[in-house]
Amino acid sequence: MKHLLKLTLLASAISPITTLAQPGQVGDLPEGPGKQLVQTVCFSCHTAFNIVGSAGYSNPQEWRHVFDAMIDLPDAQANTIAEYLTTNYPARPDRAPVLIPGPAEIEVQEWTAPTLGQRSRDPIEAPDGSIWWTGMWASLVGRLDPATGEMEEFRLPVTARPHSIVPDADGNIWYTGNSNGTIGKLDPATGMITQFETRAADPHSAAFHPNGKLYFTAQQSGMLGMLDPETGELKEVDTQPRPYGIQVAANGTLWIAYNGTNKIGAMDPETMDVRYYDIPNAASRVRRLGLDSKGMVWYVNSTQGKIGRLNPANGEIKEWDSPSGARSAPYALAVVNDKVWYNESGMRPDALVRFDPETEQFQSWAIPSGVGIVRNMWVTKDNNLLIHQSSSNRIGLVTIKD
Ligand code: HEC
Repeated sequence: MKHLLKLTLLASAISPITTLAQPGQVGDLPEGPGKQLVQTVCFSCHTAFNIVGSAGYSNPQEWRHVFDAMIDLPDAQANTIAEYLTTNYPARPDRAPVLIPGPAEIEVQEWTAPTLGQRSRDPIEAPDGSIWWTGMWASLVGRLDPATGEMEEFRLPVTARPHSIVPDADGNIWYTGNSNGTIGKLDPATGMITQFETRAADPHSAAFHPNGKLYFTAQQSGMLGMLDPETGELKEVDTQPRPYGIQVAANGTLWIAYNGTNKIGAMDPETMDVRYYDIPNAASRVRRLGLDSKGMVWYVNSTQGKIGRLNPANGEIKEWDSPSGARSAPYALAVVNDKVWYNESGMRPDALVRFDPETEQFQSWAIPSGVGIVRNMWVTKDNNLLIHQSSSNRIGLVTIKD
């Protein structure tokens, strides 16, 4: 009953989202025993698209491994669904990543977030060393103690559906209310939430600046924002289509990735004026970027299956093909000790890739619970990497030994 209750709550909480099944899409599934069950239990969170577009799995056990992280069903129903899916959606070998051996060693620890199917994502490290994540579809943020594995989930306003979170110096967790047009602050000591209403409908990713202000992107609204947490003062400006990732450089410039045009932007923190740099190929789209110690901007070219480097001094750009090729869909990215880490979100398992700019060599690993996908990464103060999987409901810590 507990899980049923959870599911009901979740389904009502997410009702406004566009990924809910539309009547016309229900017929997308082939006939067979299990079809109706899939429509009944799976489409409460997403459409057939996630199933039809998946990499498929070769046996019922693997299928259960996939959806057991989303919903807790009685065995009878789960097995019927798993048989049906194995028959109709067997593994597609073309989605397997090309994994490259190399010199670096890593250890990956993963934790399953308590509320299933929450679309766990965007983990961060708070000043006290705790790990936090957001469960977008369940409108919650969670705290994980990496030493004990203990997890706690804090409910946010159901309409918020936080996309990303960032901590402030006092350990408050700031979230982007992607569905209710707010920036919110959770004080973990009291559980109290403060909301700031934005003009942008969909705050997306955020970053704190050394000047104390919170800067954010709003993808669908095509806006950039600046919030002063002290005064609540907000300034928002229009920008190029679909601003996405945002990072602060050592010199204070804010770097913006664009998912709706082939550009990267450099924003002045005071004036909010943006200088744009063109990325080669009009079809290029950049979701996330990161900075190395020399101020070079590293980015994923998600549509072209490449990673790239922009030199802000002269606008020069160099790109490299990701190991799994044109359809690898590099997505999240972080620079750790001047090595570039990112994932190939088009592959199953989702692959974690390391690129060494000095040797120009790639190395890659399958993410253990790699049903997919990493949407954002975070570098810890010990220079390790926080990752996650939004489908298999995992939060991960990658300890880097190089
Ligand atoms: C409580 C919500 C919920 C329910 C119910 C649910 N899912 Fe999901 N599912 C998710 C989330 C969240 C994702 C990740 C979506 C994303 O990251 O965009 C996902 C993604 C998927 C994917 C894509 C995996 C990949 O390759 O990335 C498949 C396949 C899938 N679901 C199958 C199922 C099946 C089969 C069922 C029914 C047995 C089901 N889901 C029920 C939440 C749910």
